[in-house]
Order: sequence, then C-alpha cells, then structure tokens
Amino acid sequence: MKVRPLETENGTNLYEQVAHRVEALISEGTLQGGDRIPSVRKMHQQMNVSISTVLEAYRLLEDRGLIAVRPQSGYFVRSNLMSHREEPNPSAPPRTALNVDTSLAFRINRSLREPNMIKLGAAVADPSLFPITTLNRLIGQTLRNAPESCHSYDVLPGCEPLRHEIARRLMDAGCSVTPDQILITNGTTEALYLSLRAITKPGDTVAIESPSYYGLLEVLASLHLRALELPTHPREGLCLEALEMVLKKGSIAACALVSNFSNPLGTCMSDLHKKKLVTILESYNIPLVEDDIYGDLCFQGNRPKAIKAFDQKGLVLYCASCSKTLSPGLRVGWAVAGQYQTQLEQLKLFTNIATATVNQLAIAAFLSNGGYDRHLRQLRRSYYEQVMRMTQAICDYFPPETKVSRPSGGHVLWVELSPEFDSMELYEQAYQHKISIAPGSMFSASGGYQNCFRLNCGLPWSEELEQAMKTLGNLIKIINR
Ligand SMILES: Cc1ncc(COP(=O)(O)O)c(C=O)c1O
Repeated sequence: MKVRPLETENGTNLYEQVAHRVEALISEGTLQGGDRIPSVRKMHQQMNVSISTVLEAYRLLEDRGLIAVRPQSGYFVRSNLMSHREEPNPSAPPRTALNVDTSLAFRINRSLREPNMIKLGAAVADPSLFPITTLNRLIGQTLRNAPESCHSYDVLPGCEPLRHEIARRLMDAGCSVTPDQILITNGTTEALYLSLRAITKPGDTVAIESPSYYGLLEVLASLHLRALELPTHPREGLCLEALEMVLKKGSIAACALVSNFSNPLGTCMSDLHKKKLVTILESYNIPLVEDDIYGDLCFQGNRPKAIKAFDQKGLVLYCASCSKTLSPGLRVGWAVAGQYQTQLEQLKLFTNIATATVNQLAIAAFLSNGGYDRHLRQLRRSYYEQVMRMTQAICDYFPPETKVSRPSGGHVLWVELSPEFDSMELYEQAYQHKISIAPGSMFSASGGYQNCFRLNCGLPWSEELEQAMKTLGNLIKIINR
C-alpha cells in the first residue's frame, strides 16, 4: 500500500498529519480490523518524515484507540473498532407542537451539581483545559488599568474591544459583521433567550431539531412557547423537507437549532444544507435562532461556516459564547441579530442592563493577544482525544448493539440502545455509583429518546473514567436482562 507524502498544512503538527492519513485509510476501509499497518521504517520512507514523527503518530493512534501494538509483530488496526459501530438512527418525533415540561431537566441538572460525581451528564469541560492562569492575570491587569470602567455599568451594545475581536473571529465562520452589529450577553443562554423573546410571543410555535439541547427547551418553556420537534439526521441535521411541510401550514413563528457539532447529536450541517435552510426560511420570512457555541471546536481542518454566513436578509439571529472555549464562569456571550438587533438591545437593557465589564475586557485581551489560536489548537486536540477514548470505551464495555454518534467536533456523544431500554433506570443506578449521565428524554419536548443518553467527553481520560465507563457498561447489561 502506497501512502502519499505530506505537504505542509498550516497549524497541524507533522505527526498529526501522519496520523490523519492512517486514520483516513482506516475509515475508508483500506485498512480493516486486524490488518497490519505499515511498519515505522516503511512509513518513514514513504511519507518522507523522521522515525520519531512516525512513532509519535502511532502513539497518537494508539491513544485514540485505533491501533494496537503487538510485541515483535508491529502495529495492527484494532478489531473492536468504533468505525464498525452503527450511528444512531435519524429521529422521527411526533409531528405536533407541544408545551415543554422542564421538570426532568431541572431535577437532573440539580443532581449534576453534587460533589464527587463523575460528571458524564453535564456538557462541561474540565477547568484544566482552560487557560485559567492567563485569564486570571488578564482580569487583574484589566482591573488595574481600567478600575472605573470595571466598576461602572457598561453601555450597550457591550465593550468595543470585545466586539471588535468577535467581529474579526466571525470572519472565520464566513460572516462579515461590524462591531456595532454585535450585542454582548451573559453567555449563549441569554443570547438565545433575548433572540426568542424578540421574535415570538407567548403561545407561538418554534420548530426545533430533535433531539434538541435541553437549555433551548428551557428557554422555550420560560417564554411560554411551544416546541415542534422535526426529524433530524445525525450527520445531515434538520430534515428540510419536514421543515418546509410545517412552514407551508403557516403555524411556525421561528426556527431554532445548533448549527455546528450540535448538542446532543454532534451534527455539523454541510454548507449546502445551511444555504438551503436559509433559502427556505427566507421564502417564508421566518427567523432562525442559530446557536453556534461549538463552532470553533472542529477536530480537523478549518472551522465550519455559520448559517449566518448565508443570511442575506438579516433573518438569522446568531448566538455564541466563550463557555466551551475559554470560561463558562465568566458568562461572556454574544448575539448578531440582523433585523432584530435594536429589539435585542432594548430587551438586554430591560433584562439586566449589561454584562460585567471586567469579564468582557479580559476576554477581549485574551482574544487579541493571549494566544487564542494556540489554545484552540490544543483544546480541539484534547476534545478529539477524549471523544475517541470515550467512543472506544463504549465499543469495549457496552453491548454490541449500542449505537453511538460520530461527531467531528465539540465534546458530547449520543448513545442509542435497543428500543425498550430505559435510560432513566440507568441514570438512577449510575447515580448510586456516583456517575452522572444525561438521559435521552431531557432532549425532547415529547419525552422521547428513553433508550438514549448523552455522555460528556469534556473530562481528560483517566483510570477513574475508564472504570466509570466499565460500570456503565455493566449496568446497561444488567438492565437489559
Ligand atoms: C448547545 C448549547 N448552547 C448553549 C449552552 C450554554 O451556553 P452558555 O454557558 O454560554 O450560556 C450550552 C451548554 O452546554 C450548549 O451545549
């Protein structure tokens, strides 16, 4: 087998490029479970890289659970490979608009906060993955340099240096936005809340993907909105035919979804799908609330475009934050609301006046000169590693019929078991073992997905985590009996 030699690729280490090539051969099926992969010496010659680069690449592939070394024999593709696992089925939710009951999500969310739990339930990253020392230094510096501003109300639409940095970063998502088109919010959650409040009135129906991020369901409930769940494909995203059918009936006030590396399915819509979605919504003059909180967290290549990049009429209300990349605790998010920007600014003023100035300025300083790109490269690598390890643990410890999503970014996995499985029972039993999971019904207004659950991959791999995955696998087998 011949492997193409490498050309320089920006931002990726040579050993990662070697690893990507081997990974591609495995996912294309050229290399299959049990096959021997080219020896270190052969790879070194074929790809024109050093022996140590190949060794580093193979170590990475071992860490990702793709290959295993057999003493005296070389490196082999693992036979219990996750690429052999099926992905979850496209969803088929009931086609009726429903009021959202958030009591389950609230109860489970409270329990997620308990100390000493292995937090596989909440989509949170381990704080060790964030640049806390640098952020702390920048917070101190900001307080010293601008004490009066930091202790005054900030004025709308938020601190200019931060909006400037966000506008610059949004270019990578394909969006041409000026700083004055950006409103700073308290996280994505507030951006979603203000957006939906601006474009709907109580009793309206909002079309959403299914399964859907439970925080969005909570916002819908708090605004007395009804949710119409639409079929969603784990790779392609929201079913556009189903969307068009409900739009034709004229009963939808807005659409809301996570565009890139969605939570919980991990879907990343293609550019074509995004463009078609915007065209359909424009033709019915229906606004879209886009949550792009995970957009910066692609595992390979460039960041995917935002749906906002295809928005010609200002109908897309773009929402994001630094909660998954830098710090969820600083509560810094933003909205780019097109036609609805002034309404959003008014609502922000009436809701809580402003976002904390020091937090905004410290994030702005990090984005402009704190090494954000370097940090992001490292973070993407860590999330990728963790998603691969967790997937491999599912293959090793969960029953063979388990289906698992294959996200190309973000840090959550969606697990689907046989139709009669009860993930609430798993939740209760895992809780006794101090392990939290997010049962599937939390992600649905209709209480669906009882046989599914979401796993957080934001925690660095450890023996404790491996043990937790083993325990979950055993509990699933016991419940299945
Ligand atoms: C899809 C999605 N949107 C929004 C949020 C919350 O974001 P923030 O902390 O910025 O309010 C989360 C957190 O898990 C999320 O997964």
